[in-house]
Amino acid sequence: MAKEFIRDDGRKFDELRPMKAKVGIVPNADGSAMFQFGDTIAIASVFGPKKMHPQHSQNPEKGTLRCNYNMMSFSVEDRIRPGPSRRSTEISKITEWALEPVLMIDDYPNQVIDVHIHIIQASASTRCAGINAAAMALAHAGIQMKDIVSSIAVGKIDKQLIVDVNKYEDSVFDEGEGATDIPFTFTSKGKITHLQLDGKINTEDFKTVMQLAREGSKKVYEVQKQALKDAINGGKE
Ligand code: CDP
Repeated sequence: MAKEFIRDDGRKFDELRPMKAKVGIVPNADGSAMFQFGDTIAIASVFGPKKMHPQHSQNPEKGTLRCNYNMMSFSVEDRIRPGPSRRSTEISKITEWALEPVLMIDDYPNQVIDVHIHIIQASASTRCAGINAAAMALAHAGIQMKDIVSSIAVGKIDKQLIVDVNKYEDSVFDEGEGATDIPFTFTSKGKITHLQLDGKINTEDFKTVMQLAREGSKKVYEVQKQALKDAINGGKE
């Protein structure tokens, strides 16, 4: 029975890892934030809006969002080779796509907004933590936004649907009957701006797990909102 299923870290099937979020942690940036799911920690820094260089890359119709996702060498057990990789290029691109629908990018013609995401500790769902931190950092930088986005990975291990996949679930179950990892990003109004699917899942399970993701994203949103409020009320920035 789903409710009796206890995961390796003691969580229930629909329980998220402890979350932490903080806004305004990189003084040199125009906006910054940290978002943490358990042992996964992402820091996002926003620089801009600023004039796009070289000039031929400027778009007179709208601004450009440029995301750069980077896992620090020391973020995982096996040191990662520094510099861009196929994986980091993909995650940078999907981060842009997840964020763009809520940005009022038309307000920034010929300009670029740079978002640098650093994963300082990785234990699964780093792309989701990065997107959550980036959304908060953009708001902190005062970029015009229609909404905020909240990201969460759900999945299926053996026959069990789970929310907020951890490193063990992501890797160990890959060897067994198969693990399915589905990162989702939602606006606070419940619209999906990003969805990836790694593995297999049937339609019925997909519908159920999407609802679990939607519920999970609301919990992420509450943590982001509180951190943004704290930054304003705390008067630090
Ligand atoms: O991190 P996320 O779940 O968004 O992406 P993934 O490619 O599915 O990676 C899952 C996890 O594998 C990461 O969060 C890391 O903990 C780990 N990983 C690693 O140890 N070394 C890598 N080069 C890439 C990922």
